[in-house]
Amino acid sequence: MVPSLIHSSSFRLIGPLVLCALLLAPGIGVGESCADEPAPLVKVLVVYHSVFGNTERMAEAVVDGVKTVSGAEALLKRVGKVTADDLFSADAVVVGSPVYWSNMSGEVKTFFDNWQFKFGVFPEWKMKNKIGAAFATGGQLSSGKEVTMLTILAAMLGNQMIVVSGGGAFGASATTEGDSLGIDNKEMADAKALGQRVAEVAVRFKTGSAK
Ligand SMILES: Cc1cc2nc3c(=O)[nH]c(=O)nc-3n(C[C@H](O)[C@H](O)[C@H](O)COP(=O)(O)O)c2cc1C
Repeated sequence: MVPSLIHSSSFRLIGPLVLCALLLAPGIGVGESCADEPAPLVKVLVVYHSVFGNTERMAEAVVDGVKTVSGAEALLKRVGKVTADDLFSADAVVVGSPVYWSNMSGEVKTFFDNWQFKFGVFPEWKMKNKIGAAFATGGQLSSGKEVTMLTILAAMLGNQMIVVSGGGAFGASATTEGDSLGIDNKEMADAKALGQRVAEVAVRFKTGSAK
């Protein structure tokens, strides 16, 4: 009886669900995830620098966008906390910076310099063909957000990454105007759209889907 049940096609269909429900039942559970959950297809590393919290909020919205894509997993890290494994296991890297004097902040530039000093990306081109994207927040409307995103993308292009935009022509950006948390809903939506686009492109690139 039991072997025939196990081999029946209906058990093969519902068996994993039943096992999963049992494992998650109170008192029996082994954790929040089920063993039959598929492993994520792509990992998207979202890296940011933020002192007052604006760029961090944008980073969280980018992560929200990544999570809308089936098969994509997001990892959120501050620039100084990224490890070699975070970087090299990622299929895509999205980097966000506050605008400092019309360019990326020193911390973000140091992060990129450390790709070589700490992680030794060259001469093997270890970041080659990973997907890359940028986002930025700046205090004023027109004082360096696009330059900041373009210099982030330039560092990625220099590493033979494949850069994409989303949310705006060069990435997602917000004008914070001195307000400690000055990002509006449209700007948050742009950041989410960027995360979604990066994850979609990463999945398509990895699976070879032409859609
Ligand atoms: C040292 C410094 C330089 C800055 N330079 C610029 C600038 O050139 N253009 C601009 O729009 N905002 C500039 N800002 C404002 C920040 O980019 C803005 O407040 C940003 O949203 C802060 O991000 P955070 O909240 O994630 O720390 C500067 C801020 C600091 C501290």
